[in-house]
Amino acid sequence: MTQSTVIGYRDVVDLDRYPIDQLDSEQGRDFVASCREALLRDGVCQLPGFVVPDAVDRMVELAAELGDAAHRSDSTHTVYFEPVDESVPAEHPTAAQQHSAKQTIAYDRIPESAPIRRLYAADEVKDFIAAVLGKPRLYRSDDPLDAVMIAVFREGDELGWHFDRSEFSVTVMYQDAEEGGHFDYYPGLRSDDDSNYAGVQQVLDGDSAGVIRLPSSPGTLAIFHGRHAMHRVTPTSGSTPRINSVLTYGEDSGMRLNELTADLFYGRTQ
Ligand SMILES: [Fe+2]
Repeated sequence: MTQSTVIGYRDVVDLDRYPIDQLDSEQGRDFVASCREALLRDGVCQLPGFVVPDAVDRMVELAAELGDAAHRSDSTHTVYFEPVDESVPAEHPTAAQQHSAKQTIAYDRIPESAPIRRLYAADEVKDFIAAVLGKPRLYRSDDPLDAVMIAVFREGDELGWHFDRSEFSVTVMYQDAEEGGHFDYYPGLRSDDDSNYAGVQQVLDGDSAGVIRLPSSPGTLAIFHGRHAMHRVTPTSGSTPRINSVLTYGEDSGMRLNELTADLFYGRTQ
């Protein structure tokens, strides 16, 4: 069988350890319950080794092979990804500038046979994530660039502190950087009713109380409440880049990036 004819996700996910294909069994229900508990308690559900080593290795190879297709972005932004509020002091959370730089490989550049695309195409994976989040159903994104992307952080790259606009995020880790590239997050730092600017300011000022540095390992799937947890990826260094994927799911069908965001992240709109 050639690479291009490989279909399905069963060789990508460690189904013995994570029985997402049997959610109606007692074992499956217990598994979902433990994931939900972790998400509620820690703001994140992390599943180490969810993607098997062979599939992780293939994704690391692909990231190298697709290097020429990557788009480099380097920008400053506020933690809210909104225009600076000029009426407040420069250090206020709505004005303070964060730096983010990375390379992204868009969905349309990743071959259909790639392990991550086969994982993303699987309804079992989508339905499992919905169950963990307590959603009746989720949809895959329709965006030709952003549905699944590969992010590569090389020397000096980072993601500055921010809150996600989406309620939740799903990521798969492929490779840690030689040094740095740590994922730091502060679960529940704000809520829909409370912006907690004082708390946000403390973290921006370098107070690490309440900040959790999440250990990660290649193959880890993470489901994460990023709208209320401020988070960052610390600057990487060394010759080994940090490589992961972000998988986009939503509660509505037909999700697409707006043109401004597409251009910012991918350097093109389609
Ligand atoms: Fe984020």
